Amino acid sequence: MSIGYYNGKFLPVSEVKIPLTDRALFFGEGVYEALIALDGIPHLAERHIERLFYNLSLVAIPFDKTKEEMLSLIKEAILLSGERCALVYLQVTAYSERRIHSAPKTEKYNLLITVTDCPMPDVNKRLRLVTYPDLRYRYCNIKTLNLLPSVFASNYAQKNGADEAVFIRDNTVTECSKSNIFAVKDGIVYTHPCCELILPGIARELLLNECRRLKIPKREEPFSKEMLYSADALIVTSSTKICSLAESVDGMPFGNGCEVAKTLCENLHNNFIKSCS
Ligand code: PDD
Repeated sequence: MSIGYYNGKFLPVSEVKIPLTDRALFFGEGVYEALIALDGIPHLAERHIERLFYNLSLVAIPFDKTKEEMLSLIKEAILLSGERCALVYLQVTAYSERRIHSAPKTEKYNLLITVTDCPMPDVNKRLRLVTYPDLRYRYCNIKTLNLLPSVFASNYAQKNGADEAVFIRDNTVTECSKSNIFAVKDGIVYTHPCCELILPGIARELLLNECRRLKIPKREEPFSKEMLYSADALIVTSSTKICSLAESVDGMPFGNGCEVAKTLCENLHNNFIKSCS
């Protein structure tokens, strides 16, 4: 069952009511996290909570819950949902009485949690990718609710029979509409460096750590659209899907990938299953 939590109350998702004054409705002023849970265990919950707190500090929303309180709320919500494989969504927004751009100083905030069922990440799933201009502003490192360009890109991908859109900014590949991306070429793993142009994904971090552990050379540097097309393999990462290899980009097929990419994907999926069992 889908479970929702809003400011202290657990309810079925369809019964949760949000006040009109939630600044998310007027301004999208808030930050969020999305993580996966398997068999009651939220995957890397501490890391997601840490990033949530960091993002709250970036958008200056006051928050008085402790990290431990957040973890127990997440666990309680998962338990109430009874879902085996679940998507846990956390959202904290600023609170205001009425619509004024510069919110009056307040200690109030709104905390929303939903737990819904989620397909099990599939190591064998191959993604069709399409490129799309990166028209987002320069706060992509903050996990804010302002996701309109990502929604446009995601819709474009869907309309064109693809699974995900790859953002291109000034001929370089930044990330995807809801995931990070890596190119593997001649045994070297490339991905855009962390800066205000990409979200520093938690699954991205996992993949880079795995490269380090296996001594696979990696370069956090911008790479071009041409490199995207000529790579031996592309890997797309996100917390809810862990990681997937691309089958094609802009309709050009990729063949069967390469051993480095396959090993990284298999290891990340195996680590996910192990950490939840
Ligand atoms: N999206 N880049 C963007 C733009 C994202 O929206 C996401 C996550 C990622 C991957 O981050 P992580 O590995 O921490 O999940 C990268 C989530 C899943 C979402 O918006 O639902």
